[in-house]
This record gives sequence, structure tokens and C-alpha cells, in this order.
Amino acid sequence: MGGLKVSIKRDTYLGQLTPNHADKEVCVAGWVNARRDLGGMVFVELRDNSGKLQLVSDPNRNKEVHDTFVKLRSECVLIVKGKLSRRPEGTEKPEQPNGLLELYPDQAEILNMAAPIPFQIDLGRQVDEALRLKYRYLDLRRKDMQNNLILRHRVTTAIRNYLVAKNFIEVETPILTRATPEGARDFLVPSRLNVGDWYALPQSPQLFKQTLMVSGIERYYQIARCFRDEDLRADRQPEFTQVDIEMAFVDESDIQSVTEGLLQAAFAEAGVQISVPFQRIPYQDAMELYGSDKPDLRFDLSFKDLSPVAAACDFKVFRGAVESGGQLKAICLKGMQGKLTRKQFDLYQDFAKACGAKGLAWVEFQPEGKLRTSGLEKFLKPEELASMKELSGAEDGDLILLVADSKKVVANVLGRLRLKLGEDFDLIDKNRHEMAWIVDFPLFEYNEDEKRLEAVHHPFTSPRTEDIDKLSSAPEAAHARAYDVIYNGVEIGGGSIRIHSKEMQDKVFSAIGIDEKTAGDKFGFLLEALASGAPPHGGIALGLDRLVMLLAGAKSIREVIAFPKTQSGTCPMTNAPSAAPEEQLKELHISVHELEKSKITADKA
Ligand code: AMO
Repeated sequence: MGGLKVSIKRDTYLGQLTPNHADKEVCVAGWVNARRDLGGMVFVELRDNSGKLQLVSDPNRNKEVHDTFVKLRSECVLIVKGKLSRRPEGTEKPEQPNGLLELYPDQAEILNMAAPIPFQIDLGRQVDEALRLKYRYLDLRRKDMQNNLILRHRVTTAIRNYLVAKNFIEVETPILTRATPEGARDFLVPSRLNVGDWYALPQSPQLFKQTLMVSGIERYYQIARCFRDEDLRADRQPEFTQVDIEMAFVDESDIQSVTEGLLQAAFAEAGVQISVPFQRIPYQDAMELYGSDKPDLRFDLSFKDLSPVAAACDFKVFRGAVESGGQLKAICLKGMQGKLTRKQFDLYQDFAKACGAKGLAWVEFQPEGKLRTSGLEKFLKPEELASMKELSGAEDGDLILLVADSKKVVANVLGRLRLKLGEDFDLIDKNRHEMAWIVDFPLFEYNEDEKRLEAVHHPFTSPRTEDIDKLSSAPEAAHARAYDVIYNGVEIGGGSIRIHSKEMQDKVFSAIGIDEKTAGDKFGFLLEALASGAPPHGGIALGLDRLVMLLAGAKSIREVIAFPKTQSGTCPMTNAPSAAPEEQLKELHISVHELEKSKITADKA
């Protein structure tokens, strides 16, 4: 025991076995998945990473093997040698892999004992996630998790093969670097050799890949680890992986067609055929129709604009919203008249309010032109209600839900309500795979908190040629040469054609309030590089974890990352992050303010 000196060596994986192996001698190894004592015999289900096999020990047949088997516990590591046989009639399990075979070993050696484990491997899916993450090495023994890691490997390999065949070369860029402006907080690393200075971990390789274009690496890619200290959600991790791509002498269509081919290859690994090219939806249309720049296109429920009716009516709530620049919009639920209970209406009201609406109005169009409304007939004339019916595309038997407010609130409330209705009424066809490019994004948006414009994507994104004049006169009206790729309502990637002239980069920095000095301090190297013969270039980055999560049908990216962090950014297995020894901090000239520390710890608790 202990596994140092073993007299037999594995020659077969369990997944390779077929019923034709009956009567063949094999040596197999793995973990004890389950063990049962029955009538003096011990039955063991052996598991390796390719399959399972039933082993049986009978004291009358081989005492030595039986003595070993009696000692076995779940998850012990075992190697056995012997002749495979067909299971006796009546004990066969044809529905299970290797369910027709069993093995009475002639030799058995325990390679390692296993301490009692905190959860049964096969039941891991039902176990609390915190426990699964603490014992991740056990969790990863589960078939589901192994399949996820294998899928991730296959997708990554397919992507690499695709890009290599298209003459891309992989270049590694630094992890210890300077801040890159992707909009999140940086993780900082203190420099011991340069006291008081800090590296930032890259939020993306954006600036390096652009620099590589200036260097003449015309087709770059990297499976790149990125770091962002942001609030975590099911589809966000503080460190994650991008398929990062950049190309020189290209326009939007070149990047998009490379990406479409790449995604086709990736989806094929999960057995899904997607057709190209993907549809292109202008950002403005996505917001007007679905209230989101990543609409789930597997179902319709697009918004209908009823603002013309609101503008002309006497109902203050509707007219007031439109007069102050807002909208009245509807979602039409076909055939849903009379289907919602009062309680359901109330729940949707509450939901809309929680999303920021002042209320949610509704009209049911009953047969023979009759109506039932949330009290609207008191304020609206019959012909106004009739216009609403027409503009919303409703017919007798349909229900419309209405929100009047600023454009932003209408988009947000109806956008979220649309998704909820889609789920609640099972309108989402889970077998559909809807990809789209969202294009024509605005270049800038106004940051209310900081009272300044900021880049919608990042400040290296090129404005549309026809909008260059707007940079100084009406920057908010300028559009970006940016594109996001979305899949079933999730943003899986984004990119742009970049600014390749120093003058233009200066202009964009100035539009977002980055003065010359700050630009020089932070991005001087990029500005100089742009001035030294930068070719036109552009690229994209795809979120590999998100992509694999969707392909695996998983609910969280943690399911497709071997060692992820929890929602609060910790690793329960290694206990990272943890306090640093005083000595180490001293060497780095860092002191943690004791008072602050105890306050923060207390706040956390
Ligand atoms: P962006 O910030 O849009 O673009 O990121 C690209 C893609 O990366 C994924 N992603 C994440 N995945 C998991 N956890 C996170 N915290 C996280 N943040 C982003 C998303 C997203 O679509 N440099 C640009 C790309 C470019 O312009 O070429 C960039 O990083 O799927």
C-alpha cells in the first residue's frame, strides 16, 4: 500500500471495453466509486476518467484479493488484473456502460487509501456549492464536471486550430503590467524593486495587441487570462479567459467573418450547427425593440411604440411622459386575454416597479371589441384605445402591457419584463441558437456620477468616419466602429476597429476629459507607437468561459472553470485571498492600517 512499488501496470481504460472483451485479460485502475458486501462477496464499482466497471471478489475463489477488497472504502485508489467475464444472466445491466461485463481479479493492489469523504461523488450535483468549491478535487471527479473541462479543452483546441489555419499567431502578453481602461477596477501588485510602485494585472491585452499591430504582427491571437476587480455574478469572474484577436489592414466585415467561422467551429464541438453570416442589429433598434443591447432573439415580444397616442391624449401620466422626451410602449401577449389572475397582474406591477417604473398599465382585448383595462378607459377615449390596439398589433384575445416613462426607464422595465414573460410563459425555444451582431453603438455615453462623457467600449475605438466632425460639436451623437456578438441574450464578445492615428486618439481622449498630460503618463507608449507607422487595425475578444458555459448548458461560469472564485472573490479550497506575513509586507514597504483592517473585517462579518 502507499503505491510506491506496484507489481502490475494498467493496460486498459474502462471506456475502451466492449462486450467483446469478455474472456480477455486486462489490468485496470481507478477509484472505488461504490462498494457493497453481499453474501460474503464484495462488489466494487471501479471508476476511471473514461468509464466504470463492476469488480467482484469471492473469498472461495481468491482469498488474497478478497482480503484486499474487504479493506476498500469509497474513493480508494485500486489496481486489479484479471480476466473479464460476461455477467450471469439476470444480473446484466445493458443500459449501463460495461453493464454486460464484470471482473473477478486475480490480483488487486490498493494504490492509496481514502479518508472518509465529505460528500458522495455521484451526488455532488446536489451538494452545496461552497462545499463543492472547498473540496474541488473531489467535485472535479464527477462526470459532469469532467465533461465540462473536456468540452472546454475541445472548444479551445478547435479555436486554436481554426485560427492557426487562418495564419494567426499566438503571442503572450504580460500579466504584470499597467492599468488598461476596460472600465473595471484593477488588481494591483506591489513592486518590491521599485518601492511604492504597483503593477496592475491586465483587464485585457488591449494595448499590447494594438502595439503588436504596429510591430507588424498582422494576425495576433491569444487565449488570454484577464483580471477585473468587479462585482461578481453568475457570468462574471475576477479572473477569466478571453479569446483575444487583432488584425491589421481590416474593416468590420473581416473581423466579423473570422469570428463567425471561429464560433461555427466552437459550436460544432458541442454538436451545434450555426449558420453564418449572423444578423446585424443596430444598437438603437435593439434598444427600441427589446430594451437591451443583448436581446434574447429566441422569442419575439418586441416593443410597440404607442407614443403618438400618448402625445395626443388627455391622460397626464401618458402625455406627460412623452412631452418630457419619454415614450409609451407596449408588449403584446398573443391570446393572453383573460389568462392572468388579479394576483398575477399585481406581481407584474410589483416587478415593473422594482425595475424603476411608476406603474404597469394593461388592456385586454376581449371578443367583439370589448375591453378590460387597468382603469385606462376612465382617461382614454375609445378611439385612443382603438389606436393603441392597432399600433401594438393586438387583436381580439390579446393582452398588452404598457409602460410610460423616460426612454431609459421604458427600455429597462420592458426589457426585463420581456425576459420574465418569456420565461414565465415558456416562450423561449431552448433548441434555438440565435446569434447576432449588435452594431452602430454610440461612441460615448454620459456618466451621471462623474458628470462627464466616457467611452461606451474603450477609448481606443474608432469613431465612424462620417461622425469625425461630431467629436467636437456633438460627441454624444457620434457612433463607434464597434460590434458585440450576442448568443441567446448573452454578450459573448465585443470588439472594434481601432483608432490608428495619434491625432484622432488625442481628440478622443480630449472628448472624454483625458488631458494631454494624463494621456501621456498613462498611454504615452501607445500614442508614440501610433505615430510611428500604425496600420489600420481592429479586433475582438470573446469570453471563453461564457461561451463554454453556454455550450455546456451550465448555469454559471464556475461550472466550466476548474478552480473558480466564489461570489465574494474567494477560493474556499486554498483560502485565497489571505493575510500576508508581516515580513513580506515590510519588504514591500506596505503597512495595513490596523484600525482600518479591524473595521473592514467587522463590516464584512
Ligand atoms: P470586453 O470588456 O467586452 O472587451 O470583454 C470581452 C468579453 O469578455 C467576457 N468578459 C467576462 N467574462 C467573465 N468574467 C468577466 N468578469 C468578464 N468580463 C468580460 C465577455 C465579453 O464580451 N479589449 C476588449 C475587446 C476588444 O476590443 O478587442 C475587451 O476586453 O464575454
